[in-house]
Amino acid sequence: KSNMARGNLILIEGLDRSGKTTQTTRLVETLQRKGKEVELIKFPDRTTPIGRLINAYLVDKSFQLSDQSAHLLFSANRWELAEQIKQKLENGTNIILDRYVYSGIAYTAAKGLDFQWCKNCDIGLPKPDLIIFLNLINNETRSGFGDERYEIKSFQEKVKTQFELFFNEQNWHTIVVDHQTIEQVEDKVWKLVFPLVDHETTTPIDLFK
Ligand code: TYD
Repeated sequence: KSNMARGNLILIEGLDRSGKTTQTTRLVETLQRKGKEVELIKFPDRTTPIGRLINAYLVDKSFQLSDQSAHLLFSANRWELAEQIKQKLENGTNIILDRYVYSGIAYTAAKGLDFQWCKNCDIGLPKPDLIIFLNLINNETRSGFGDERYEIKSFQEKVKTQFELFFNEQNWHTIVVDHQTIEQVEDKVWKLVFPLVDHETTTPIDLFK
């Protein structure tokens, strides 16, 4: 059973308003149309017990939580689903992630916390086979920042600087979304995903080290 094909773990990361949610949704639909087993998991998952705390923290700016505690909650939220993710991959289901470990690190490091400290609690989580980062060169090109805690332009710039530290990571691909239609970005995403889902993945699931 060890050389049976497993599902692929595919992550779409990006800044707020970069079109992540639209693209992950479309990717899932495309894979379903091609007859592939696929599931979408969005982080933070606000429906779990820890996720409900995270939601309260994000929407209510008077909710007091130290930056360290907030960081550990986001990580714990990933650990809540880690076993389920592994199991599904092993059963042959492809998993599309909307945000994951890199968001966790970038958003907290942007507050000034130590980069390595930010990475530590995610060590051991399943590592994606493909990471697509939707990059916004100019934040002004997209409108509609909401009212959540992090939806402030100056903070987003700091987050972007942290994400840039991952640009040389293995399996990392950056797509610039400025002045691109949804369909153009979708096409670029598909060109990265297709080779992966077109062949049988039999390598063991990698873990964050
Ligand atoms: P999300 O629900 O993806 O918001 P949106 O759909 O508007 O992009 O994420 C909520 C916020 O949480 C977002 O500003 C990014 C932040 N975040 C962290 O700070 N740490 C994390 O580990 C994750 C997954 C998200």
